[in-house]
Amino acid sequence: MIIAVDGPTASGKGTIAKALAAHFGLPHLDTGLLYRAVGRQVELSGGDPNSEDDALAACAFPEALLSDPELRSEATGGLASRVSVHPSVRKALYERQRSFATQPGGAILDGRDIGTMIAPDADVKLFVLASVEARAQRRFNEMQQQGRKVTLDEIATDLAQRDARDRTRKEAPLRAADDAVLLDTSHLGRDDAIAAAVAAVEAKA
Ligand code: C5P
Repeated sequence: MIIAVDGPTASGKGTIAKALAAHFGLPHLDTGLLYRAVGRQVELSGGDPNSEDDALAACAFPEALLSDPELRSEATGGLASRVSVHPSVRKALYERQRSFATQPGGAILDGRDIGTMIAPDADVKLFVLASVEARAQRRFNEMQQQGRKVTLDEIATDLAQRDARDRTRKEAPLRAADDAVLLDTSHLGRDDAIAAAVAAVEAKA
């Protein structure tokens, strides 16, 4: 069984994908992490994330970079969304994602274009969404727990910018596949969101 989970930043897709992987015993790939690694590698090598050549060169990042805690930061998320607009970067990361998706026994992947580009043949496609307000509030709570100093306004502005970039880019823009099940988590707590996702998968599979 291949499960594709797509959605914007802080929609809850990562939490849902992890929980589904545990529930159904499937290997899970957070594809955003690959773009984050490319963004971070550009930064470490002193390149420009808006330069397609610099970003493509950074696709050869060392594997150890994937466990760098800095990959989870907002700043790296911003870099990831810049490098991810370049077609050659998306192409360079395609094969790795595609072979993960098609491994025997199935897999679950979360990202922006899993249901549309990486695994258009997925058995179940979920598109997880939530209002900007709900997403900003979640991110704000996370940041506060980590002791990071940011305001709710700054987070909301950053999310809206990142959404706009992801939705309007030419290559593989963020959008729900025609056959995706929409899951709005704006008013759902963590457990209810997971339960709704499990039910959606069971109904489709
Ligand atoms: O999901 P996450 O916030 O970690 O993704 C970081 C950025 O990587 C996104 O804003 C998006 O621009 C890019 N991305 C993408 N395609 C994916 C996953 C992430 O373009 N499949």
